Amino acid sequence: MNDQAHSLRQLVSSHQPSDHVTGTTATRTAKIITVSSGKGGVGKSNFTLNFALTLQSMGKKVLVFDADIGMANIDVLMGIRSNYSLYHLIKREKRIEDVILHGPEGLPYIAGGSGLADMLSLSEEEMNYFISEIERISAEMDYILFDTGAGLSKENMRFITSADHCLIVTTPEPTSITDAYALIKVVHSTDPSVPFSLVVNRADDETEANEAASKIILTAQRFLNIDIQLLGSIADDTHVVQAVKRQIPFTSAYPRCNAASDIRRITLRYVTVPTATLPEAPRGIKGFMQRWLKRTK
Ligand SMILES: Nc1ncnc2c1ncn2[C@@H]1O[C@H](COP(=O)(O)OP(=O)(O)O)[C@@H](O)[C@H]1O
Ligand SMILES: [Mg+2]
Repeated sequence: MNDQAHSLRQLVSSHQPSDHVTGTTATRTAKIITVSSGKGGVGKSNFTLNFALTLQSMGKKVLVFDADIGMANIDVLMGIRSNYSLYHLIKREKRIEDVILHGPEGLPYIAGGSGLADMLSLSEEEMNYFISEIERISAEMDYILFDTGAGLSKENMRFITSADHCLIVTTPEPTSITDAYALIKVVHSTDPSVPFSLVVNRADDETEANEAASKIILTAQRFLNIDIQLLGSIADDTHVVQAVKRQIPFTSAYPRCNAASDIRRITLRYVTVPTATLPEAPRGIKGFMQRWLKRTK
């Protein structure tokens, strides 16, 4: 296993972008963001989906990657179903265009599914194909959002510490706050360079949101010596529940509801106020893959 991981790492660091990537003038370095939480059920998937749609409405190119291995369900929130997942891509049965689903407003979406667990047993040839396909698509993107699972699993840690930025979602509940902090602490002890920002979901009002955010931000400042940027809060809003039942993203189903205007405010802030990025180069999908493979040690 060690030998294999070693040769995969060498493969990634020596991998040159394929011709069609270098051939285009529109090559971008997509920023890789993980959306994570300590506790489950805090609204990560709803946030990821509606944040992605709002970024897209502001002219950004966004790809959503469902990386919650146990409970991937963004497709359900969009009312679409995936026939193919990463599995078919890594087995070279499909090209990346075939495993990308298009949600509302054409939002590109990849279901990680069981394929994620198989990543480490890839042959060099399979890995090479996977990397060139993923680099090809990411060259067209501004952001790749990974909706990760909740908590401190090894898989989550590996995703978070490989990405350019970690966006933490919490609710004002004490258990959600303490679990969010625990996650930040463990990520930070694994890799102190990972930058965080914070969204408080399901807040009753601004005061409650700020109180919840302060607990995390001040504790992180004091004990970890890191600055966590508060991107904003999202109201506890029954329109979200209604939208989930209708399988339509709430920003599309109820664009004037409180939660939707909160998402727009957060997104605007995200694109206008620069968020911290990993200082370590290279960034984007190439850096992500390098770090991700390094973390399999
Ligand atoms: N802002 C909100 N207001 C009201 N209910 C919400 C809100 N955000 C999430 N929910 C509820 O929480 C449930 C879980 O959300 P989800 O995004 O699936 O969480 P996670 O991905 O973190 O497990 C949703 O189905 C919805 O009922
Ligand atoms: Mg989820």
